[in-house]
Amino acid sequence: MERFYITTPIYYVNARPHLGHAHTTILADAMTRFNRLMGREVHFLTGTDEHGDKIVKAAEAAGKSPQEYCDEISAIFKDLWPKLGIENTQFIRTTDPEHKRLVQMALQQVYDSGDIYFGEYGGHYCFGCERFYTEKELVDGLCPDHKTKPEYIAEKNYFFRMAKYQQWLLDHIKANPDFIRPEQYRSEVVSLLESGALEDLCISRPKSRLDWGVELPFDKDYVAYVWFDALLNYLTALGWPDGEMMQRFWPAANHLIAKDILKPHAVFWPTMLKAMGLEPFQHLNVHGYWLIKDTKMSKSLGNVVEPLSLAGKYGLSGFRYFLLREMSLGHDSSFSEEALCGRFNSDLANDLGNLFSRTLAMTHKYFGGQIPQAGQGGPDEEELMMLAKDACLNYQRLFERFQTAKALDSLWELVRGLNKYIDTQAPWSLFKEQNGSRLATVMYCVLECMRKVAVHLWPVMPEAASAMLAQLGVAEDPASINLPAEAEGWGNLSAGTEVAKASNIFPRVEPPVADTPAEPAPKAKQADKPKAAPAAAPAPQGPKDPIDFEDFQKIELRVATVLEASPVPKADKLLLVKLDAGDGEPRQVVAGIAEFWKPEDLVGRQVVVVANLKPRKLRGVESQGMILAVKREGGLELLAPSAQVTPGSAVS
Ligand code: ME8
Ligand code: MG
Repeated sequence: MERFYITTPIYYVNARPHLGHAHTTILADAMTRFNRLMGREVHFLTGTDEHGDKIVKAAEAAGKSPQEYCDEISAIFKDLWPKLGIENTQFIRTTDPEHKRLVQMALQQVYDSGDIYFGEYGGHYCFGCERFYTEKELVDGLCPDHKTKPEYIAEKNYFFRMAKYQQWLLDHIKANPDFIRPEQYRSEVVSLLESGALEDLCISRPKSRLDWGVELPFDKDYVAYVWFDALLNYLTALGWPDGEMMQRFWPAANHLIAKDILKPHAVFWPTMLKAMGLEPFQHLNVHGYWLIKDTKMSKSLGNVVEPLSLAGKYGLSGFRYFLLREMSLGHDSSFSEEALCGRFNSDLANDLGNLFSRTLAMTHKYFGGQIPQAGQGGPDEEELMMLAKDACLNYQRLFERFQTAKALDSLWELVRGLNKYIDTQAPWSLFKEQNGSRLATVMYCVLECMRKVAVHLWPVMPEAASAMLAQLGVAEDPASINLPAEAEGWGNLSAGTEVAKASNIFPRVEPPVADTPAEPAPKAKQADKPKAAPAAAPAPQGPKDPIDFEDFQKIELRVATVLEASPVPKADKLLLVKLDAGDGEPRQVVAGIAEFWKPEDLVGRQVVVVANLKPRKLRGVESQGMILAVKREGGLELLAPSAQVTPGSAVS
């Protein structure tokens, strides 16, 4: 059986987890799930890095002992992951006694082989990075990452003969083009090595300066440099040197990091492995930064975003989708809630959510909720099947390389293709024409492709994908599905299976209110200066003309989903809105809302319509009903149910 070993960095416990840590760990979780679906046995390791200066300082600041402090923060990381749908198979802490024992064993082995020596060194030390910088690496005399001035420290220490392995590493990288990926990071490391600037690595700290670390087995006055200790976690977790997990998973090792820790992973780590007589890892996968207004999100800069609050608002699946769809592997991405909300509404509420709700509703309307038996397809179905196969194969090929943004983009070609296919095949017309066999074929094709979409989405959004599959009547556990077979195969859904009546997996989210000071705070203003109610919204006074209940019952109010909206030529105030009002075919309404609503903001929304208003022509365009709205000062609000419901549902 093929295997896959995926690791995240072990995070420092000097602060709480933020969006950046969540991103790496969610990506690792998605890769875990994806590789399982590809039929591989997976081990997924994450954990916490607990030694070193900055942990001691953070503990002091919190008024706790280092161990107490580490226990507390490490537990916060450990407990967060399941809440984000992350299923790591192991969680390691560098204060685990077994890890410490094995780090000492590794140090002794490298020392005995002659690759560790005692010497004197002076350098610019950044406490944030826990490392020495050379003059050349500093930017304007400051640490390039923390933008702080490093301290010049000269002391006697132990050194690892890293420079000795420079040529070997260069050759290895050249012979294995995807050892470090994507390409820009590989070339960064190649130029570093080619510049010949690689020095030996200082791997100890005198206890007189720092004693929170793993004691050197060959000198009680020193502890190990935190990076030497931390990197070894990837091996000690597997029970190096001869644990059973070691044989199984080390040959399949994939590390995942952000570019901040490229050098330790791309240079220190492979040379350490070489010195220990081990094979290098398979791939180092590097992603960029989440930025807040052009600056790296980081605990030391204090501009962090809490992952849990967003996962609460957009759902776990929406949040995970956004992270994996928005950031292209290797590039930086700017985070804003506007971007998250925009993607959520366009890709999930509109494209995917509508596909599910309209298809399930039609299956109920035309086939009593049962998957129909497909007849012989024509060229349009052949085209759709080709699109499905290409989208799925591309998705799989890209996902293999951690390229989740491109993979999801490719899958969305299928999602949008399906919506288009529905629009052109117009099942509502086939129904009206009583073309039952064609209708069955069209609906089956759409449902079968929706299954493909859902199974491919499981690594990214396990919760929502499971819900989508359940709605399609798929009883199989998504975790046991074989993905390669899903791309190629056809006819997985069986006719007669019952599907759900409605789908409301991604209810639209109102865009966050921008925190620009341009708009005055209306409440405060009104509070200190009461003024007459604006003309558009007169204060209600009492019912005008009472009616009987029977009169009310004559009005047929229904919930409808906006399918399309477009301006009405030569009428500034009007929009032509196409709705799914449960009629089995789109209904069009001409609404006087163009001043307040952009067509693209309407699509996917639910509205309430008066469904039995006699059709009439407005500016020559027939209007089949009326959309209910409320005028207020400077705007117009549309009436809608508090959660998505099946289009056509009666309002009573
Ligand atoms: O470096 N954008 O721990 P750390 C994207 N303990 N990812 C980010 C990010 C951002 N703005 N900020 C942090 C350490 N990350 C060491 C690692 S490994 C043997 C030792 C993520 O707590 C990203 O994965 O500073 C980055 O590499 C990691 O957190 C750094 O975590
Ligand atoms: Mg860091």
